Amino acid sequence: MTKQVTSKVLIALGFAASTLAIATSAHATDPTEPLVVNGEIEIVTHTAAPAHLEGLKTIQSGWEFRTPETQDLQRDDFDNPGMIGVDNAREAWNTVEGTAEKSCASCHEAPESLAGVRAVYPKWNDKAEEVRTLEMQINGCRTENMGAEALDYTDNKMTEMVALLSAVSRGMPVNVAIDGPAQAMWEKGKEMYYTRTGQLELSCANCHEDNYDNLIRADHLSQGMINGFPAYRLGDAKLIAVHTRFKGCVRDTRAETYKPGSPEFVALELYVASRGNGLSVEGPSVRN
Ligand code: HEC
Ligand code: HEC
Repeated sequence: MTKQVTSKVLIALGFAASTLAIATSAHATDPTEPLVVNGEIEIVTHTAAPAHLEGLKTIQSGWEFRTPETQDLQRDDFDNPGMIGVDNAREAWNTVEGTAEKSCASCHEAPESLAGVRAVYPKWNDKAEEVRTLEMQINGCRTENMGAEALDYTDNKMTEMVALLSAVSRGMPVNVAIDGPAQAMWEKGKEMYYTRTGQLELSCANCHEDNYDNLIRADHLSQGMINGFPAYRLGDAKLIAVHTRFKGCVRDTRAETYKPGSPEFVALELYVASRGNGLSVEGPSVRN
């Protein structure tokens, strides 16, 4: 089956329309071996779409769109370059910082005590009366509970800590709440997802809902899920935060982008996370 790819999408991905009239459909996600990490953590990489999501029947992790070689790097933590960041974060977890002279471990014991937390973030925080991403919550603990400085939103140390919290939740189903006090933010994120922006007038949905599974140059377009974040990008040789990825994608549409940590990207993250409700937490994943 060959899908029609709009020329705007091709241009956005760096193609002169003339060099590529046909976009061949990729080898439709030939499920090699299912993803089981370390021979024990079973990862759901595709499942039925959540009820709120009308544009897709089946949701798929970005893992399914990578080459078998890249996929294999996630089967064992010794092969996954993102796990180095997780190890760094384990050290940071036990390091005392700030005026209260506490480490994360002082209050939370082992990181495993927060297993499951990754799966439900972004999440409404009653005390702060805001939707918080994990990064915001980590900075909340640093400033309010430790008397330490907030980290930059996409600082390596921050992304590594998020990777640690993801790693201890791997295999658990993403289950982000979209109702109650989070609903207004969710609606805002949904609107952003479907709004065409930039010189190319492309929305997230134009690429990740209408054109996923198309092979464009080296890029096999995925559904743009975030269950695998932070993602270790082989091209950048580092862990990438969700908002860094968003920034790159918005730039592809030649639009002004938002700042990592901005309310706009928090809303977008909440919405995009909810599109993946039912997939397993998979971070840190490996992507090209
Ligand atoms: C002085 C105690 C204290 C320290 C130190 C501390 N936290 Fe917390 N943390 C809390 C409390 C209390 C909560 C729950 C209340 C809230 O939401 O603020 C919490 C909540 C969290 C949550 C959200 C849990 C959930 O179920 O939603 C995460 C994630 C977290 N902390 C991470 C960290 C990290 C990472 C560090 C170290 C950088 C850290 N915390 C340091 C007290 C602490
Ligand atoms: C012009 C097409 C295009 C548009 C528009 C676009 N993206 Fe992407 N996006 C890509 C490509 C190409 C990749 C890399 C291959 C892949 O994983 O799909 C990607 C990757 C991603 C990923 C990483 C998925 C993973 O598993 O690693 C996320 C998340 C994402 N996009 C979200 C978004 C969001 C949110 C928007 C709207 C703000 C958006 N994208 C708009 C082309 C696009």
